[in-house]
Amino acid sequence: MTAFSTVKVALDDRSYDVVIGPGLIGETGQRLKALIGSNPVVVITDENVAALHLDRLCDSLSNAGIPHHQIILPAGEQTKGFGQLQKLMESVLDLRPDRGWSLLALGGGVIGDIVGVAASLILRGVGFIQAPTTLLAQVDSSVGGKTAINTRHGKNLVGSFYQPQLVLADTDTLNTLDGRELLAGYGEVVKYGLLGDHKFFDWLTENGLAVINGNADARRHAVMTSCAAKAEIVAQDEREQGQRALLNLGHTFGHALEAETGYSQVLLHGEAVAIGCLLAFELSAELGFCPFEDVATVRRHFETIKLPTKISDISAKIADPGALLDHMRQDKKVKDGKLRFILARGIGDAFVAENIDERKVAELLETAIAA
Ligand SMILES: NC(=O)c1ccc[n+]([C@@H]2O[C@H](COP(=O)([O-])OP(=O)(O)OC[C@H]3O[C@@H](n4cnc5c(N)ncnc54)[C@H](O)[C@@H]3O)[C@@H](O)[C@H]2O)c1
Ligand SMILES: [Zn+2]
Repeated sequence: MTAFSTVKVALDDRSYDVVIGPGLIGETGQRLKALIGSNPVVVITDENVAALHLDRLCDSLSNAGIPHHQIILPAGEQTKGFGQLQKLMESVLDLRPDRGWSLLALGGGVIGDIVGVAASLILRGVGFIQAPTTLLAQVDSSVGGKTAINTRHGKNLVGSFYQPQLVLADTDTLNTLDGRELLAGYGEVVKYGLLGDHKFFDWLTENGLAVINGNADARRHAVMTSCAAKAEIVAQDEREQGQRALLNLGHTFGHALEAETGYSQVLLHGEAVAIGCLLAFELSAELGFCPFEDVATVRRHFETIKLPTKISDISAKIADPGALLDHMRQDKKVKDGKLRFILARGIGDAFVAENIDERKVAELLETAIAA
């Protein structure tokens, strides 16, 4: 078996490869060389990832004769704001770049998102490379070109679609990731099976624990299949006018739970997505779209993997279905005031449902909170 897998994101002249496998960071220089020649690269990372993986990446750039600079930002979601964005862009401009330069995001989704915004704005657009180091970033945020920062009005409200030119997902970097962060990223992995690929879900029920426990081949397969699923959807609907909304399976419920817990360590995004996926399957079953048996199958898998499955699994007390509904109404995916959900006809068969009756959702939330 080859050590690396490549997934192509087909977007005409903005197409790019997502390369996945162990040890890729050490090959960054040679892989970039073909793409950018000897143009300079500014590597941007956070302090946690810098301590663990930055030197290897910079050595690889040096060995390939690529001039480079590094900028280290604080770790955490708070970094994704106007203040850090301004500092970051001024620091890059201090280096007197031209449009042949590239910004390379080495880190999780926070770094990928803020660097993407900066790359799209500096000189009206410089090169952008992603080297994602969390499972969530490898299977989701580094692919597809959504970039954003948070404002006081909410998360991810300022940003643009700006595709990277290459994504290098080194699955070895996951070995240093905190176990809870890894598991949360798995929430997004299983989402791809649930929304469009029953076979992948079945594979995960067999191999999910190997993915979590560090089996390199299992990890590569899981990341590759997830990226391929996302790439296919993005290629058809880059700007989320239709199909791409399917990627939000579990996210309407998930975002409401995250908002209610203050987007904090109390509930990580992928954990919220896991609970949200189950709620979406439950709602689908209650509305008669999906067999209850499938809900039970999904729940069993999450329990085996040790993902949270219930609202009561969240350490903060959530008692008010009305507050959760309010968050859902504020979600930017709400269209013309109607609640829109991604529901499922079964495992691997999600669809966009408009006009969902709020009372049904309220009832479901009441039951879910009591469970
Ligand atoms: N653009 C998109 O399409 C998209 C999609 C999903 C999520 N997101 C965004 O992604 C962000 C969340 O990303 P995340 O979960 O990767 O969080 P993150 O970037 O905050 O990383 C989580 C934590 O892990 C640390 N870390 C990262 N890689 C590590 C490694 N290999 N070893 C040890 N520690 C490591 C980080 O320093 C941080 O403390 C959110 O802001 C979300 O909005 C964007
Ligand atoms: Zn998500």
